[in-house]
Amino acid sequence: MKKLHSRDAEETREAGRRLGSTLTAGDVIALRGPLGAGKTVFTQGVAESLGIKEPVTSPTFTLISEYYGKMPMYHMDLYRLGTPEEFAWLGVEEMMDGEGVSLVEWSEKAGDELPDRTIRVDIRINSDGGRTIAISRPDGEAA
Ligand SMILES: Nc1ncnc2c1ncn2[C@@H]1O[C@H](COP(=O)(O)OP(=O)(O)OP(=O)(O)O)[C@@H](O)[C@H]1O
Ligand SMILES: [Mg+2]
Repeated sequence: MKKLHSRDAEETREAGRRLGSTLTAGDVIALRGPLGAGKTVFTQGVAESLGIKEPVTSPTFTLISEYYGKMPMYHMDLYRLGTPEEFAWLGVEEMMDGEGVSLVEWSEKAGDELPDRTIRVDIRINSDGGRTIAISRPDGEAA
């Protein structure tokens, strides 16, 4: 597990860029953390590293947004999801296994429906307004 400290939104975006530059097709990133933690800001950094020019916003009402850069990026926000079964019903497995990378905000709502290879990014809000970002790969390798 790798733990970073971010003092502002730009540092969180930079953390996203750094992780983004290591991603390959089929990678899935589960983002956890409270409202306003910086999950979307982190995703914007990943998008930048993939050469996506379109602005990335929270897809709260659409559930899934697709962006196209060096490879596709699928951005999901499960905040409004009822149960993990609903995630399974979305039928996104094929998409996650495809030629793009997937980022899932509020991934805890998916229960254990995400693939075993999922990289976890947990963002905590510290009392000084900074963020602690913990990145863990399923094999325990440094992210
Ligand atoms: N260190 C920091 N890292 C990230 N964002 C920060 C930081 N400090 C302040 N912010 C601010 O916090 C907000 C984070 O918003 P963001 O939409 O990324 O959160 P989120 O986790 O996606 O929330 P939601 O659960 O509503 O989707 C932004 O307004 C950003 O400017
Ligand atoms: Mg968000």
